[in-house]
Amino acid sequence: MRPPKSSLPLYLCLIGLACIAAGQHGQRPLQAGATAPNVLFILTDDQDLRMDSLSYMPLLKHHIVDQGLSFNRHYCTVALCCPSRVSMWTGKAARGYPKFVSEGFNNNYLPLWLQEAGYGTYYVGKLFNAQSVTNYDSPHAAGWTGSEFLLDPYTYRYFNATLQRNFDKPVSYEGQYVTDVISEKAHGFLDDALQAREETGQPFFLTVAPTAPHSDVNIKRNNIDGDFDENTNVQSPPVPADRHKDLFPDVVVPRTPNFNPDEPAGASWISRLPKQNQTNVDFNDHFYRNRLRSLQAVDEMVDHLVKRLEEADILDNTYIVYSTDNGYTIGQHRRQPGKQCAFEQDINVPLIVRGPGVPKGISTDVVTSHTDLAPTFMALTGARPPIDFILDGQAIPLDGVRVEDQRQEHVNVEMYQTHV
Ligand SMILES: *[C@@H]1O[C@H](CO)[C@@H](O)[C@H](O)[C@H]1NC(C)=O
Ligand SMILES: *[C@@H]1O[C@H](CO)[C@@H](O)[C@H](O)[C@H]1NC(C)=O
Repeated sequence: MRPPKSSLPLYLCLIGLACIAAGQHGQRPLQAGATAPNVLFILTDDQDLRMDSLSYMPLLKHHIVDQGLSFNRHYCTVALCCPSRVSMWTGKAARGYPKFVSEGFNNNYLPLWLQEAGYGTYYVGKLFNAQSVTNYDSPHAAGWTGSEFLLDPYTYRYFNATLQRNFDKPVSYEGQYVTDVISEKAHGFLDDALQAREETGQPFFLTVAPTAPHSDVNIKRNNIDGDFDENTNVQSPPVPADRHKDLFPDVVVPRTPNFNPDEPAGASWISRLPKQNQTNVDFNDHFYRNRLRSLQAVDEMVDHLVKRLEEADILDNTYIVYSTDNGYTIGQHRRQPGKQCAFEQDINVPLIVRGPGVPKGISTDVVTSHTDLAPTFMALTGARPPIDFILDGQAIPLDGVRVEDQRQEHVNVEMYQTHV
């Protein structure tokens, strides 16, 4: 049953309070129980909002965009995968994985709070960079009822992933298409979660994090944290599944006014970039097409997961959240394919939510950021951090309404640069 809109005043939830207010037609439980909503969080990698990638995902449109609320002004607070992900899972400003571990967040972050609130927590795909074949168990990422993580240095190999399940040793999936492998494992965990739900009433929080449409990266060391340059890795366009490799033959990067402009744009090193020649532009258009092609397997995965939720008759009691860690640029301001800057292409990212009480098929201009995701998940689930844990974000208003004085109109954006 879809509760009436009035029962979802999520924007009232302040930092750390994670309240679920009582609606007019019954009370939402603070602690998990048979009626507590489930959450499916789909997190892609380097997906742009500003180059139109969502327009090439018809199944995502059908199941999520048309059924939910799209945020036009959602931002990552740092346009680099791992620090961005840490801010997502802690509700705090960005930091890398080594800091995440050394500062004790592996014992104190969202999945642990979700478990305390009675949730089964599951994760498939890329959690953080610098989680590698050599350090995956020192420590194991805490807080997951079931997990299967992609590990460096194979995180970005589309046809040679290495995954590590629960407390098992890493397994190589050489020759298999990584998004399909992740999709299959997501189904496995969803089955486990559905069974637990049926037997004990336990709700679930399942995150599925494929690497598409990130570039394919051949990393020459075990991990790349803080050491990401042409000597340590070779980047190529993302690799689509064979069944998608010939799609969109005529599509090119949108030729917006800032695309490879005649006059240099921006400040500092950006203003010194040369105009790209035709060979370069052609290659970058190919790079762009392969991003869209690699997203097709993600689109299919969304379709399969939503259909499974529908079959299990819990789609109406499940929030589905779709986002990415950071944005992407190709050719804007003469830049080569990449991210890390504070241009809109890099930091303005997709966020779409569908679920009980969330308006359908509309978009909102309320300003939100990745640091708000953990508080939002807490508001949905009743999870909460220890009393002394200071969150930097606040729950996102899932009715899409901007309320004067209750939301900031700016976000804190930082930059991580390893070389100039
Ligand atoms: C694939 O990954 C395995 C490790 O999981 C590695 O031993 C092997 O060399 C890789 N193959 C290719 C073609 O890179
Ligand atoms: C085009 O630009 C690239 C550098 O981005 C350069 O390596 C290449 O030689 C140029 N090609 C032509 C035909 O000028």
